[in-house]
Amino acid sequence: SGLFTYDPGFVSTAACESKITYIDGANGILLHGGYPIEQLAEHSDYLEVCYLLLNGELPTPEQKETFINTIKNHTMVHEQMRNFFNGFRRDAHPMAIMVGVVGALSAFYHDSLDINDAHHREVCAYRLIAKMPTIAAMCYKYSIGQPFMYPKNGLDYAENFLQMMFGNPCEEYVANPIIAKAMDRIFLLHADHEQNASTSTVRLAGSSGANPFACISSGIAALWGPAHGGANEAVLTMLEEIGDESNIDEFILRAKDPDDNFRLMGFGHRVYRNFDPRAKVMKQTCDEVLAELNISDPLLKIAKRLEQIALEDEYFVKRKLYPNVDFYSGIILKAIGIPTNMFTVIFALSRTIGWISHWSEFHSSPNKIGRPRQLYTGSKKRDYPAK
Ligand code: CMC
Repeated sequence: SGLFTYDPGFVSTAACESKITYIDGANGILLHGGYPIEQLAEHSDYLEVCYLLLNGELPTPEQKETFINTIKNHTMVHEQMRNFFNGFRRDAHPMAIMVGVVGALSAFYHDSLDINDAHHREVCAYRLIAKMPTIAAMCYKYSIGQPFMYPKNGLDYAENFLQMMFGNPCEEYVANPIIAKAMDRIFLLHADHEQNASTSTVRLAGSSGANPFACISSGIAALWGPAHGGANEAVLTMLEEIGDESNIDEFILRAKDPDDNFRLMGFGHRVYRNFDPRAKVMKQTCDEVLAELNISDPLLKIAKRLEQIALEDEYFVKRKLYPNVDFYSGIILKAIGIPTNMFTVIFALSRTIGWISHWSEFHSSPNKIGRPRQLYTGSKKRDYPAK
């Protein structure tokens, strides 16, 4: 009973007000704090965008330096956290480990945390920004049986992540600056995207007053699926499955067949019905990285051909199914040498700032617990059968 609108998939329902990110899907516009994503990708960097998302303004040079130093203070995880990894099988999916280990941070930061205190919320954000690369790299090191690498605070954010992923205690690791720049850009382009499924999940979980690290873990879970952040991994799996350019037509036919659940991974977006502005920047970065590293990969040929067909084929054109951010990010990550099952972890690492900024925004203004209604379609009231 009662009147409410029915909007499955929240296609047309705004559930909150927000000042953080603006998207105009029809015109392919994405703004953070009013700044176009293309300009941020060109002139800014990930940590500066983190500051912008948290504070609504770009930092002054002094504020930026203080922010970066504060993040560096928090890069290590508690030594006890190492034990959590040992409970997982070596072949556990790293997103499963992320859900568990990031959620476990809530046990380390809970008792003295007051989510109604703006400074406490800020410190949660610092901790998360700082620790996500450490935890993400630990997932990878665990899976390949190498020792965990400690963060090196002399390095910048992306270099440090690459060092923890690809370095080892036996020799000094020096990141290729082109790769480090591309990594930072991947982080930046994924930093926030207003009320997507994972961010809405974090907001909803947070609306009950739950521990923020546990809320972020719920965001990681929501991100994992192939319709959302899991798409970057699914793109690569799909390219491998296609295997050869001669098989492309068959997959295109399957994608268009209404009786086949198969979708072209990395194509389409709920909000962008024109193009995904992040995908444009990502494509450019992809071309730069591949040229610089002089990589020729048969999967990339398949990707380029697929992109071309999809952009010309009536089915995709009519439905406005353009390549999205995940189509190109997967290709760059592969070129960098990141294993496929780590792709979504990198999305999670990058999006954590978006999640925590929205969580913090929620708590900084008067709010209500999120409580959607439903359209009941079950059986009418009936009596329990007499025995
Ligand atoms: N391949 C083939 N057909 C598709 C695809 C696709 N990738 N995406 C949508 N369609 C078709 C769909 O079958 C439907 O056709 P029809 O009108 O004939 O029934 C029409 O396009 C509209 O699709 P929808 O499912 O109503 O659209 P949605 O807004 O609910 O879904 C989406 C958006 C991103 C989940 C979907 O496009 C998709 O599954 N894409 C592949 C997965 C993917 O790349 N996800 C990453 C999204 S971007 C990163 C992020 O922010 O998470």
